[in-house]
Amino acid sequence: MCGIVGYVGKEEAAPFLLDGLSKLEYRGYDSAGIATIDGTKLVVEKCVGRLAALKEKIDGHVPKGTIGIGHTRWATHGRPADNNAHPHTDGAGRFAVVHNGIIENYLPLKEGLLKKGHEFKSETDSEVVVHLLADVYDGDFEAAVHRVLTMIEGSYSLVFLSKDHPDRLICAKKDNPLVIGLGNGENFIASDIPAIISRTRRTYILNDGEIAVVHRDGVDVCNFAGERIDKKVFEVNWNAEAAEKGGYEHFMLKEIHEQPKAVRDTMSQRIAKDGKSVVFNELKWDKDFLDSIDKISIVACGTAYHAGLVGKTYIEKLVRIPVEIDVASEFRYKDPIIDDKTLTVVVSQSGETSDTLAALKEAKRRGAKTVAITNVVGSSIAREADRVIYTWAGPEIAVASTKAYTTQLVAFFMLALYMAEIEGTQPSERIAELIAALQKLPDDVSRTFEDMEPIKTFATKYGFNEDAFFIGRSLDYNVAMEGSLKLKEISYIHAEAYAAGELKHGTLALIVKGVPVIALATQKSVYEKTLGNIKEVKARDAVVIGIAAADDTELAKYVDHVIKVPATDELLIPILAVIPLQLLAYYAAVTRGCDVDKPRNLAKSVTVE
Ligand code: F6R
Repeated sequence: MCGIVGYVGKEEAAPFLLDGLSKLEYRGYDSAGIATIDGTKLVVEKCVGRLAALKEKIDGHVPKGTIGIGHTRWATHGRPADNNAHPHTDGAGRFAVVHNGIIENYLPLKEGLLKKGHEFKSETDSEVVVHLLADVYDGDFEAAVHRVLTMIEGSYSLVFLSKDHPDRLICAKKDNPLVIGLGNGENFIASDIPAIISRTRRTYILNDGEIAVVHRDGVDVCNFAGERIDKKVFEVNWNAEAAEKGGYEHFMLKEIHEQPKAVRDTMSQRIAKDGKSVVFNELKWDKDFLDSIDKISIVACGTAYHAGLVGKTYIEKLVRIPVEIDVASEFRYKDPIIDDKTLTVVVSQSGETSDTLAALKEAKRRGAKTVAITNVVGSSIAREADRVIYTWAGPEIAVASTKAYTTQLVAFFMLALYMAEIEGTQPSERIAELIAALQKLPDDVSRTFEDMEPIKTFATKYGFNEDAFFIGRSLDYNVAMEGSLKLKEISYIHAEAYAAGELKHGTLALIVKGVPVIALATQKSVYEKTLGNIKEVKARDAVVIGIAAADDTELAKYVDHVIKVPATDELLIPILAVIPLQLLAYYAAVTRGCDVDKPRNLAKSVTVE
């Protein structure tokens, strides 16, 4: 996730900018840059790589000036490169801008600006903002920023610097964090509190739809309509470590709670304006291309493999193309039956998993067409695949994958809808209905957190059990597998996921009095059958926690506790149903005193075979 800093005051800006950015390094980034105003000159220094590379680049000629902005970039639009790093400037070098988020309508805006003669230096969506500013500017900086905000769509935190107004920074927020640090004769801006707490603990936390004009002696905040807002000072009492985690105890918990935004960002720019179709500019497939494919092969490891299982159902149900799925370490050595009529989809959060990368190369060697679903722009897997669908989840720091999984499901769901539309395998009304459910999903994810207290209680109570079972049918079984993996890897509890109908073929022997069973019953098409299996474990005195949709009235009669998630289409409910399981694993691990973010024996990116 990108980091933003800004300074206006009486001291040199660059030392604060560099120090503030270093406090945001933990969030992951691939390039960095700063801009200051030195007298009447706007000075920009930026480069790909770590902050150390930027410091080396400016060694001996650190940009001067008492006002400036800085940025660490986590690539989305455009690979990690010097020209794609922020701050971006307009052609005349009058303005500089740093941006976090996604400008959804940047393409049409860019086309318009190109026609007017603006020259772009980067492949980013962000650069469009600074050219727009230059385009509408008539001497009134604030008015120009207001005007730009009416033209851009998407999510953003933005900070604007103007050579003509070296006494102020203007910042604006929508769906991305932005905080103003209040000093004495100096003020600070940052995307996250860690960047500023060594200088001040008095802050204004900006809300969506707010703009602030930040001078060294004062801050004026208004809404996008220009109405003044009286902000309350928020005193930060977190220590530096807690601040990095946004006040959460662990990165994993923070990332679990970032899922509404991660899901929204992954959908962003991929739904047509009329809400009736999915747009994948990065694929540009047509009927001829899809007709040339007779099967799909999904390959991935761990959590990404579990996402692939759900993806298989999405594609088979909506597109009616057969899908095979393999864990990457098996695929490589099984002499896979794939050829140029196969589309291989590899899934990897990091884009660096060695087994998945090798499987991708093997698929290509056999002539398959390939597409990668990954979270890291410019990663090895992204570079190797023919096409890439990025999940815009932002960097995942905890070893246990959470927001990467839910965004991979969103990517698969959209891919299936996209293919179904091209192939004509679903009526357009059904596609529109599913897209409407998808658009509601970020809010559904947010609402899922409202009723999670019982999960904490259950995890605390059963956290010291040595075994747990997860059961479900159909998509619920796939989610059960992910829940079981999460519990194992961070709490070290032995957990097994079982297809509920398969229990009686062996595993039922392990279900005895007091054994915790997490039973997912969100899939209406197999609901009665699942209930039958739940009764089987209840009859053996298991302690059953059921996961159901909000409109469920039955399950409570058969289980010890029910956790409800918002009701939505049964294809999308896995994205909600996994959240209580992530929280269950988290709280069980906390109860057992485990190192939640860095579980034993595991690494975030597995680059060995
Ligand atoms: C589990 C987990 C792992 C990864 C697996 C693949 O929480 O994080 O199972 O999913 O190592 O990693 P990526 O997705 O980076 O290829």
